[in-house]
Amino acid sequence: MTQADIARRVAELKAERNAVILVHNYQIPEVQDLADFLGDSLGLSQQAAATDADVIVFCGVHFMAQTAKLLSPDKTVLMPDPSAGCPMADMITPEQLRRFKAEHPGAPVVAYVNTTAEVKAESDICCTSANAGRVVDSLDADTVLFIPDMHLADWVARHTDKEIIAWGGYCPTHVRINPSTIDYMREQHPGAVFIVHPEARHEVVDIADDVASTGGMVTFARETDAREIIVGTEEGMVYRLQQENPDKTFYVVPHTVCPNMKKTTAAKTVASLEKMQYPIEIDPDVAELARLTVERMLEVS
Ligand code: 13P
Ligand code: SF4
Repeated sequence: MTQADIARRVAELKAERNAVILVHNYQIPEVQDLADFLGDSLGLSQQAAATDADVIVFCGVHFMAQTAKLLSPDKTVLMPDPSAGCPMADMITPEQLRRFKAEHPGAPVVAYVNTTAEVKAESDICCTSANAGRVVDSLDADTVLFIPDMHLADWVARHTDKEIIAWGGYCPTHVRINPSTIDYMREQHPGAVFIVHPEARHEVVDIADDVASTGGMVTFARETDAREIIVGTEEGMVYRLQQENPDKTFYVVPHTVCPNMKKTTAAKTVASLEKMQYPIEIDPDVAELARLTVERMLEVS
C-alpha cells in the first residue's frame, strides 16, 4: 500500500467507526501524517477528554493511551502496537510508591503523566512537562513528592519555593544528551539556538536557550527569530518542526531515538482500525482513582 492508499483507507475506516487518531510528536513521519491531532502529552489528554468520537486510536506509548482511556472510559481506545511502553513509567511500582509515601507522611504526590494507571491511582495529582510547575504550585503543601522523573523534578525545583523530594527515575532517551555534544553542534552551527526538553540532565538544561515540552517547542520554533535550531529531545520531533517551519533548519541531537515511539507504523494503524485492535482495558477500581488524579491536573491546566 502506498501512503496515499493508506490515507484513503484510514479516512474510510475513521468514518465507518467514528474514530479519531491522536498522535504524539515523537511518532514516525508516516504516522504523524495520519493524525487528526498531533501534540504533546497535555494536549493529547485534553483532546481525549473532549472528543465525541466513539473510537480513539492512540499512536504513542502505553501510558498515553491509558490516560485517554481514563478520561474517556466509555470509548474504545486502541493502540496499534500495545508493546510500545515507556521505560521511565516502569521505574516506579505502586508498592515502591506506597513505601515512598510512608517515608514522607503528609506530602502530596505529583505523578508525571509518564506513570502507569496503578501508580496514578496511588497519587494525588498528575502533571506533564507543560504544566509541572503550575501543578506543584497549586498544592497547599510546603513539601511535595515528585515521581518518577528526577530530571523534570530538578527543573520544577528551580522554579518553586516548595521542597521537592524526587523519585530517581529518568528517561533513557533524554539522559543520552550530553553537554559536550551540544557544544560540538553549536561550533558546527554558530547561529543556532538550542532548545531542550526538561527530561534532559541539569547540565544540559543549564546551557539551553529554552526548556520546553514538545508542545512548547512547537510554539518556540514558530515564534523565534533564529533560523537554525538544535532540538534536544526525541528525534521524531524534528519532522513536525521542519514541516511547520520550512524556512528554518532543525538539527537532531545524535542518539535520541526512543525505540518504543517507533513501534507504531501506518500499516499497524490501518490494521488497528480494521480489526479494532488492541483495546486498552483498566481495572475499574484502579481507573476510578487514577481518573481523579488526571482530572485534578486538567482543572489546573
Ligand atoms: P511531552 O510531549 O509532553 O513533552 O512529553 C515528552 C515525552 O517524553 C513523552 O513520552
Ligand atoms: Fe518514555 Fe522517554 Fe520514550 Fe518518552 S521518550 S516514552 S519518557 S522513554
